[in-house]
Amino acid sequence: MENLFQVAIDGPAAAGKSTVAKIAAKKLGFVYIDTGAMYRSLTFKALSENANLNDGHQLKQLLDRTEIQLVHDESGQKVYVDGEDVTERIRYPDVTKQVSLVSSYEEVRTEMVARQRKLAESCSVVMDGRDIGTHVLPNAQVKIFLIASVDERAVRRYREEELKGRHPSMESLKAAIALRDKKDMEREISPLVKAEDAIAVDTTSMSIEDVVSQILHYVKEKQLS
Ligand code: CDP
Ligand code: CDP
Repeated sequence: MENLFQVAIDGPAAAGKSTVAKIAAKKLGFVYIDTGAMYRSLTFKALSENANLNDGHQLKQLLDRTEIQLVHDESGQKVYVDGEDVTERIRYPDVTKQVSLVSSYEEVRTEMVARQRKLAESCSVVMDGRDIGTHVLPNAQVKIFLIASVDERAVRRYREEELKGRHPSMESLKAAIALRDKKDMEREISPLVKAEDAIAVDTTSMSIEDVVSQILHYVKEKQLS
């Protein structure tokens, strides 16, 4: 297991984490692990079962009987909850709105972190989320903290919505992003914070390709040292 390599990518909503993590993993031949999709999956299941989102213990019990699978094929990442393809469903606004609450409970996070570490046990990974560099993979060889202005992040989300034929107001997108960031930064357990040894990359005016090459550069540097 000595030569396994870990890249941790953290940062606020819509900073570009999953986009660049996916491309970097492919180029490096590493496995991409989207921890946000895991918290979204539990939120989806909790909503489907009308679980009490204010009860962390009940959510943890629900998680214990929930199988979450991240599968990668030619078309990209697919997410399955108990065998059902929820790739699109977990991005719907009802899930996005509640995911920070569901992921705020210690019991839920402890189980999720155990599953995430297990996924990284046997292969080199690029893992993205909020607490990867600070908590899930504290010994990751490369830690990146991606940021971008709220305005730019709202524009990025708007472009995604536009492709789906929706036209939300920029103000509502900005407010939703800012609120989720606030909840993620202010929660007691593993809040969103830059790890001391993480490299901050401001992607506000960077292309996806530029961000990926910067990450690959840091990985190569470490691999050679
Ligand atoms: O991609 P986006 O920024 O919309 O978020 P995501 O990565 O899918 O994560 C959704 C939510 O899950 C975040 O807003 C956090 O509340 C939670 N999350 C977390 O608490 N810890 C992680 N390692 C990953 C996500
Ligand atoms: O995972 P996270 O929420 O941090 O962000 P994402 O879902 O990877 O990226 C949000 C959107 O920003 C995607 O549509 C990306 O194509 C776009 N993006 C961009 O325009 N420029 C970048 N440097 C990175 C991402």
